Amino acid sequence: MSTRKAIIGGNWKMNTNRSGAVALARGVAAESGSCADSVDIVLFPPFPYLSDVAQAVESTSGIGVGAQDFYTEPDGAFTGEVSLAMLKDCGCTWALVGHSERRHVLGESDVLINAKLHAALEAGLNVILCVGETLDQREAGQTDAINFAQLSYGLAGVSAEQMSRIVIAYEPVWAIGTGRTATPDDAQNAHAAIRQSLAHKYGQTIAETVRIQYGGSMKPGNASELLSQPDIDGGLIGGAALKAESFAGIITAAAG
Ligand code: PGA
Repeated sequence: MSTRKAIIGGNWKMNTNRSGAVALARGVAAESGSCADSVDIVLFPPFPYLSDVAQAVESTSGIGVGAQDFYTEPDGAFTGEVSLAMLKDCGCTWALVGHSERRHVLGESDVLINAKLHAALEAGLNVILCVGETLDQREAGQTDAINFAQLSYGLAGVSAEQMSRIVIAYEPVWAIGTGRTATPDDAQNAHAAIRQSLAHKYGQTIAETVRIQYGGSMKPGNASELLSQPDIDGGLIGGAALKAESFAGIITAAAG
């Protein structure tokens, strides 16, 4: 039986508006605050609403706020970019790195992803590093190879000690926002292989402590089965995180 604490992230992407974001955050706190002892909950709102959301949940322990993206440099002439210090100022304690939309839609390279991960760790944030294969790669039997490569590039230069502040999210690209979910068996196999690769790099003891989330069309109806797999320690939720009720359904499933 795993002793890893479940972690559920809500990645709001480029959705909500100011009042909707605050209402959603309050709804999550009201519906799920009581699970916060057994589940870590992290909300990832769009940049402009971070402070409002952080304020809305600040009195509910166990709910953190994170940044969907950031720039690696501390300050300077980088028009349009947002620094980690600014995000911490807004109440962020978490950051997402390597999300498939940043890799495949915004064109982020493995080198940039690794630089971002190091910058976030140096700034004192906790990081969710996302990995996952495309449909073509899955059909070509490359799922584990892609995950290993993204882990190896993403975690280059990361120490065993720093792994306590890193969560891995396995998000098959073909399952994100599509309504198609990996079967519990397929997801478990990918998670077990990811843990094996962490064991290879950091040793079994550390690998057993790292939490690995599943992401890709997780919803209340499929969460329990996915979360009951031995190597699935939580979820990174997109669409179903935009309604407090469905997000709460997943958190309740994670609280077991
Ligand atoms: P989804 O998104 O739950 O809408 O599939 C997951 C994610 O992108 O993190």
